[in-house]
Amino acid sequence: MNVNDRIYARITGTGSYLPERVLSNADLEKMVDTSDEWIRSRTGIERRHIAADDQTTTDLAEQAARRAMEAAGVGPADIDFIVVGTTTPDLVFPNVGCLLQQRLDIHGCPAFSVETACSGFIYGLSIADRYVTSGAARCALVIGAETLSRIVDWEDRGTCVIFGDGAGAAILQADQAPGILSCHLGADGRYWDLLYNPYGTSRQRRPDDTEGPFIQMKGNEVFKVAVKTLENVVEETLRANDLDHHEIDWLVPHQANIRIIQATARRLDMPMDKVVVTVQEHGNTSAASVPLALDQAVRDGRIQRGELLLLETFGGGFTWGSALIRF
Ligand code: ACO
Repeated sequence: MNVNDRIYARITGTGSYLPERVLSNADLEKMVDTSDEWIRSRTGIERRHIAADDQTTTDLAEQAARRAMEAAGVGPADIDFIVVGTTTPDLVFPNVGCLLQQRLDIHGCPAFSVETACSGFIYGLSIADRYVTSGAARCALVIGAETLSRIVDWEDRGTCVIFGDGAGAAILQADQAPGILSCHLGADGRYWDLLYNPYGTSRQRRPDDTEGPFIQMKGNEVFKVAVKTLENVVEETLRANDLDHHEIDWLVPHQANIRIIQATARRLDMPMDKVVVTVQEHGNTSAASVPLALDQAVRDGRIQRGELLLLETFGGGFTWGSALIRF
């Protein structure tokens, strides 16, 4: 190999997992003052999956990881880097990466989680890409996994109709053939209070607090910033790669809301049949959403090897990110 040959991180396998229990819009109609029609027309969501009482984020991540490893044909001994995007870790510590490492019988490699809300998978992908392309890792396991049902207020119709549980995973391997072409990350903490959970470890509940330990969201305002920011990050990605909109084969967007997805597709002048949409199946699963959508489209044969994919995400923080990938 010539020293000047570029090493890429290629996605060699994907996997995902949705918990068995399904909560439909009709089920939600019995819990809060809402309707199937309202949820479908405002969000595109038809159902979401809810983790069993004894299932944790690591359990979901493990299933997705095993499927991705099987698809890539790699075993525990091959993996030398683990990063998990999650906002709903099992424990304060150890992080989900370490818990997962133990489950998968992988020992010694770096394992950690990133807490960038819905952007967790793409942040993780970007970090893993740097490790693989620098030669510091050869086979990375990148995951997005969430049990958001644990931090949703099931009496708040403004949020409980939106979120769900799930996990998605990808294996990245060093290769001379193109894989990830570029990743673009961003954040702006000025918007932290449009989408947040008020309590954690250091900021605990105080006697005069009025909010419960649940997701708080100013949906309308989130919507507007999300659309604008996604437009910007998509433009930035295309510019950085000197690409035209029409050269993208598949847009794999964060599955938050069909209207946000449609707005980004319009901006890219992409017909919706080139956009992977799975939000109807699982709602907004935060960090799990992009790898869930990716895995579904790979497994059902929509996404083919050699195609050009644009992944994008936006979430609490605010954080955002994109990845351009030759699959
Ligand atoms: N069922 C019925 N009515 C509802 C519901 C519900 N589940 N929720 C709210 N409403 C009512 C409101 O009370 C309001 O009633 P009013 O006019 O009498 O006051 C009316 O519907 C309109 O409310 P809006 O909040 O203006 O509705 P909007 O069209 O903005 O849709 C939604 C709300 C779906 C939350 C939208 O703003 C949205 O999707 N925002 C982005 C949220 C998001 O995607 N967050 C995650 C992105 S980032 C991340 O993934 C972490």
